[in-house]
Amino acid sequence: MDDELVWHKVPSKIDESRDYVKALHVAGKKLCIIRENGVMSVTSSRCPHAGADLTHGWCEDGKLICPFHRHRFDIVTGKGDERQGNYIRMYPLKKEDGEYYVGIKKSLWDKIFG
Ligand code: FES
Repeated sequence: MDDELVWHKVPSKIDESRDYVKALHVAGKKLCIIRENGVMSVTSSRCPHAGADLTHGWCEDGKLICPFHRHRFDIVTGKGDERQGNYIRMYPLKKEDGEYYVGIKKSLWDKIFG
């Protein structure tokens, strides 16, 4: 499956000195980057419940909390809490030669014309 990923260089500097939840713009997408207890995660930025912007959320106990109705998502797997029945998309993040890259699956368009 990894051959379907395209690695996009993160254009802005990533802060490794503190924890946060904020927006990350890469490859024309708005994603959500999280640093929680030193662990970095990249997720989709739109809440699957009613579309809130998760980049305005916060973390508690390894969960990203949506600012609208407080749905909770695991920041490693993206899985929502049990009763929610939803999840957020996770994007792999890697660091090479001091630069960060986010892995985004090729779109159908890219597969056909790429
Ligand atoms: S919009 Fe996120 S919990 Fe409702």
